[in-house]
Amino acid sequence: MSQNTLAFFIDLEPAIEDFRESVVAGLSRSPRELACKFFYDPTGMELFHKICNTDEYYVTRTELALLRQIGPEVAALAGPDTAVVEFGAGSDLKVRLLLDALERPAQYVPIDIAREPLRDATEAIARDYPAMRVGAICADFTTLAALPEEAMRDVKGRRLGFFPGSTIGNFTRSDAADFMALIRSVMGPGGALLIGVDLKKDEARLNAAYNDAAGYTAAFNLNLLHRMKRELGAELDPDAFEHVAFYNDAEGRVEMHLRSLKAQTIRIGSDSFDLAAGEQVHSENSHKYGIEEFTAVAQRAGFESAAVWTDPDNLFSIHYLTIPG
Ligand code: AVJ
Repeated sequence: MSQNTLAFFIDLEPAIEDFRESVVAGLSRSPRELACKFFYDPTGMELFHKICNTDEYYVTRTELALLRQIGPEVAALAGPDTAVVEFGAGSDLKVRLLLDALERPAQYVPIDIAREPLRDATEAIARDYPAMRVGAICADFTTLAALPEEAMRDVKGRRLGFFPGSTIGNFTRSDAADFMALIRSVMGPGGALLIGVDLKKDEARLNAAYNDAAGYTAAFNLNLLHRMKRELGAELDPDAFEHVAFYNDAEGRVEMHLRSLKAQTIRIGSDSFDLAAGEQVHSENSHKYGIEEFTAVAQRAGFESAAVWTDPDNLFSIHYLTIPG
């Protein structure tokens, strides 16, 4: 028997220069910030998987259980011979649940910024789904304006976008609408999007989820500083920073920050940044939505809401959105 291998691997991975530029631009701003998409180097991925298994971080296990439950309904909505495009490929467990539920999925193409994990996960899926055309695009999906032609060749069934994990929460509310519009244009008329969105809930629960007792979230946040040292040769003292995470009710989001415990100067090549004692660098937003609120965002981006599911405790939601045409 011949083995199913990758039909293509399109490499548009942003260069190390993009990391440097982003860090320098972010640290130059007031208040200072770092982009959360750079959390996911191999160490960061490992820490993120540990976060997902903590008692406090309900997000992943709730979404997995919900996906398992709604599989047949999603399959009925999507129809046979679907071409699945995944935005970010952090967990192949989730897409396997989706692929197993769908009727004869024809194609699977994930888009992710982390090259090696993307290759490994996609090759494993190709092996396990011999009848499916599998390819991958290594790219920053937030800036991908169109799918390479190769990625959508000979697709007979519906194009189904898959954007799990509430990664949409990393966008501000107005950026989320813009990015949803970008997804809509990438998927095209007649396409659909299955998207996981974390819900507003009790503040204590949210604060606990981003301050786990084992300290994995803190290590995940601080890893960004270690990564700057490793990859950019940045001069800074990571031990003189602490993890800060809290729910900001006015903005409807959990914010993560890196707080400098002393006055210190961060140097990156010829650039330097003087941080005051107690100064915070904003490293992530995790926006939380109400069901109607998110449906309105999707509608503004040109989607129609076909179905929405939540778990019994109303922690998390999954929306099936369609594109008219
Ligand atoms: C993967 C972006 C959805 O915002 O909850 C987990 C990342 N940050 N703990 C989130 C994260 C801190 C996560 N997302």
